[in-house]
Formats: sequence, structure tokens, C-alpha cells
Amino acid sequence: MGTTCGSKIDPLYRYVRALVICFILLPCIQLSLGAKTRHFKWEVEYKYWSPDCIENIVMAINGQFPGPTIRAKVGDTISVELTNKLSTEGVVIHWHGIRQIGTPWADGTASISQCAINPGETYNYRFKVDKPGTYFYHGHLGMQRSAGLYGSLIVDLAEGEKEPFYYDGELNLLLSDWWHKNTHDQEIGLFTNPFRWVGESQSLLINGRGQYNCSLAAKFSSNTSISQCKLRGTEQCAPKILHVLPNKTYRLRLASATSLASLSLAIGNHKMLVVEADGNYVQPFEVDDLDIYSGESYSVLLTTNQDPSNNYWLSIGVRGRLPQTPQGLTILNYHPNSASKLPISAPPVTPVWNDYNHSKAFTNKILALMGTPKPPINHDRRIILLNTQNKIDGYTKWALNNVSLVLPPTPYLGSIKYGLKNAFDQKNPPENFDSINYDVTKPPVNPNSTYGNGVYMLGFNTTVDVILQNANALSANVSEIHPWHLHGHDFWVLGYGDGKFSADKDEKKLNLKNPPLRNSAIIFPYGWTALRFVADNPGVWAFHCHIEPHLHMGMGVIFAEGVDRLSTIPNEGLTCGLTGKMFSGQKN
Ligand code: C2O
Ligand code: CU
Repeated sequence: MGTTCGSKIDPLYRYVRALVICFILLPCIQLSLGAKTRHFKWEVEYKYWSPDCIENIVMAINGQFPGPTIRAKVGDTISVELTNKLSTEGVVIHWHGIRQIGTPWADGTASISQCAINPGETYNYRFKVDKPGTYFYHGHLGMQRSAGLYGSLIVDLAEGEKEPFYYDGELNLLLSDWWHKNTHDQEIGLFTNPFRWVGESQSLLINGRGQYNCSLAAKFSSNTSISQCKLRGTEQCAPKILHVLPNKTYRLRLASATSLASLSLAIGNHKMLVVEADGNYVQPFEVDDLDIYSGESYSVLLTTNQDPSNNYWLSIGVRGRLPQTPQGLTILNYHPNSASKLPISAPPVTPVWNDYNHSKAFTNKILALMGTPKPPINHDRRIILLNTQNKIDGYTKWALNNVSLVLPPTPYLGSIKYGLKNAFDQKNPPENFDSINYDVTKPPVNPNSTYGNGVYMLGFNTTVDVILQNANALSANVSEIHPWHLHGHDFWVLGYGDGKFSADKDEKKLNLKNPPLRNSAIIFPYGWTALRFVADNPGVWAFHCHIEPHLHMGMGVIFAEGVDRLSTIPNEGLTCGLTGKMFSGQKN
């Protein structure tokens, strides 16, 4: 007693005042005290590493691959002081899925939100995490994600808040693909005539670990490869075992940082309950296997209700492209079994790579959980983007409405804010394509397209629809999956369809009742996907295919809204070179 002071005051008044303090003010004070600034000092450099037991070079952060996991609570501020220790190239880091409300200069997109951080310089990323969920971060310059620049970012609910589901423990899986050819070599191939495609990856990695040519599965079926695997099985490529207790529920957080691969994930004998997609809750649904495309994240609940005397495989395999990459594997280890006890049944097999009906069925089950914000009923503007593979001066490119994106040297955020008229194309990029005459089932009749770097200027607070229209690539009978990702916003996925989108027929089929809110969505081969978002976040935002070589070949567009509303952009977000150098000079 007596913690709330005052002696000569009416006891009733004191009582009431204590009540007010305890029940009204304290929680507020605690809430704001609860929010923290989490500081990180990171250095990016190349390092020798063996992600799949074969030594290579990776882009490491503070000597680690994958980079350190950031874990924060809603309301926290993340502050990352990023120093570029690469000797000959710039670097940036994008916080994938974080909307950067009020901090567009911290989005980490080279040429869009900032200049690349030069060798030796430091940039301070400071932003708030305002929504719980499973996210990740990655390089956003050239092909630095393929080079291994990525890590997990997990945002927990604020103190005292509850998830709409229960679980006893958590496991975090960051998925990626890995090539033995380094990314500079890959990049040159993409920009050479004749074109050299990067090809399928050599390995799939789970938390940065895979086993090239000595797969765990091989180890399971033949003893000869065991010694081979042990020889090469350095600490760096040994799978991260998933330790679980029987009869518990685990939340598996899954995020895909792949450069190319669409993945299917399955766990031997176990079902999974999907509960989160891209940091938004979904109506729970049960699956045997789950499709996850580059740029997407999910949470699934796993109940350890199988025979506890066994361990089980968790496998990932390639979907949507003829697989030439072995499955990625790790083991679900039931306590108290030894982790080295191999499962009695073979790893789950990935559904046939081109069984698109399977993928569509999965995708169509993803619906928003009740309570998720609903989309506005009408749109103010509709942008239709035809996705095609094209040729420019003999070079192979990807284009949207026949424009292939080439980023300008001066970042858009500053050039729009300060009206630098010659920093990028001032005319609007095309809103549509010749939908009546274009046959999306055939290679383009005229494959020539043009380079461009124009911006779709969106009216602040307007509702924008984007219809992504897939088509045939340059070769006949080829249409690929493209996972599209939007920066700065979540969008509602209003629907998917086959063939050419028709406003008359398809409009009324769009889901305005419970469309999932996401930051990534795919287009199926020869199909379309309809998205809606509100342009309510001042800044300049990339919207692009998350397949890194595709983006590099021009598969993206730029949106901007409300830039004039930003009062100040920090200097280091505007200038290339000078300010950054001064900044890092002060630190050293
Ligand atoms: Cu994860 Cu612009 O990307
Ligand atoms: Cu693509």
C-alpha cells in the first residue's frame, strides 16, 4: 500500500486517483516504455563459405550467412547502421514486407529510395515495425540477393496482445536457392548477346544450408555417400535440425528469399495449418504441402502428433520449372530421439512441377481472416500490365506493356521531391496494352520493346487496381510464373484467372468480400491476377517480379505518391557520395 502518495487528501479521492493511475495511465506509459529502439551495427563483406558443402563466396553480414535474424515487437524502431565493406561495389538492404510508413528513404532500394552505399560508407536505416508477422530482408542492388545477402526479420505482437491462434513453440525457416556460378558471372550472362540464362540452381537452402551431391536423402538410401557427406559436412552446411517435443503445436515461420525457384514444402506424415501470409492473418486451412514463391512468407501450425519414436523429413522442392535441383532437406527431430536417427520413410515428394491446378487450388484457399481491413468497393484507376519477354537490340529482356525498366542513376525519391526534370522519363508509362489484338497465347508478333524509367504517379489516397496479365514468352508454348511484390503497401488480391482479363466477364468475379491482404502475389502461366491497393504512403515504390534475374532484365515498374507531403528527406537519403562519406567519417 501507499505507493500512490498524498497524505492529507480525502481517502476516496486518493483511491480514485490510484485507480486512474493504475488502470488508465500505467498501461499507456508501459506501452510507450515497451516500444524500444533496437540498434544493430552491420558490416557487409564477401566471405568464403560452403552453403551447400561446396566452398564459394557469399555476401555475409558481420561474418554470418545468412545475415543475423532481427526480432522486434510491434511499435519498435529498428536502427541498422550498415557499413559497406565490399571493395568494389555499392550495397543497399531492403526490409521486405515492412511498409516504411513515413520513412520511404529507409526502404533500401538502390536508385529508387536511396543511392547505393559506396564502399567504405555507412547508411543508417531507421524505421518502425508496425505490423506483426514473418518478414525478411535482402540486398536490392544488382543480384546481391542471389549472392547471399539476406536474413530473417520477425515482428512479434506488442506486449499483452494475443495471436488469433495458439502454439507452444516456434521454428523459423528461411528458404533460398544457390548457384555455384557467382552472381557477377550470372549477371554478365544475362546482359550478353547471345543471352546466357542463369539456369536452375545447384542447391536449395534451408536457413542457408544445403547438401550438394551428398544429399541427406542419398545418405538415407545408400551408405556410400555418408562418408562423402561427412567429409564435406562442415559446420556450415550441416542442416539445422528442427527439435520438437511430441504432442505440441509449433508455429513454423517460412519465408522465401529465392532468386528463381518456386517451392513446395512438405513434412513427412504431418499436416500443416496455414494461418499467416505476408504478415497478415488468413482463414486457417489445412494442407499436406504448401507452395511458396519468391518474396512470400507464411506461418503454418504443425502439431507433433505422429509416432514419437521416429523422426521425419521436411523437404522443399522446385515447382513451376522443370526441376534440375535436388530437394532441400532437414529433419524434424522428436525428443528424445537422436537427431541422427534417419526417418523410416523417404522424404515427401514435391507435386509434379507443372501441376498448376494443384498450385491454383492452394492459392485460391488463401482468404483473409475476419477482421482484416476490406478493400474499397471502387477503384479510381486501373493499370493493366502485360508481362512479356522481349528483345531490345538483340538483348533478351522482360517488359511491361513493352517497356523494360532500367533504373536511373539518381534515386527517384529525391528527384521527384525536388523536381529534377532530367533525372528520369517525364512521360507516363503505358497504362494498358492493345488488349484487343494481342494474343497472349503466342510469342509476341513484334518482340521489340524499349527501355524506360518513367513513373506511374498515383494520386494520393486514390484506390489503384493493377491487373497483371501474363503472356507467352519468346519461345512458343512457354509462359512462366512470376511472383510480383509491391513495396510500401499491402494489396488485396482480388482474384486470379486464365487467359486474357476481360473487364466485362471477370470484373464481377472479383472477390471484394474477403480477399487476402498481401505484399506478394503470383501470376500463373497464361493467366491474370487482379490487385487493389490504396496509394496512401508518401514515397516512391518498386513493384516488380521477385525473380531476381527477371527484375534485372527489366521486369518492374515504379509507383510514386504523395512525395510532396514529405517534409524532409534526410540528407544521406538524397546525395550520393559526399554526405555518406562525411557520415562514415564521423563514425570512424
Ligand atoms: Cu523482396 Cu523489391 O523486393
Ligand atoms: Cu518473373
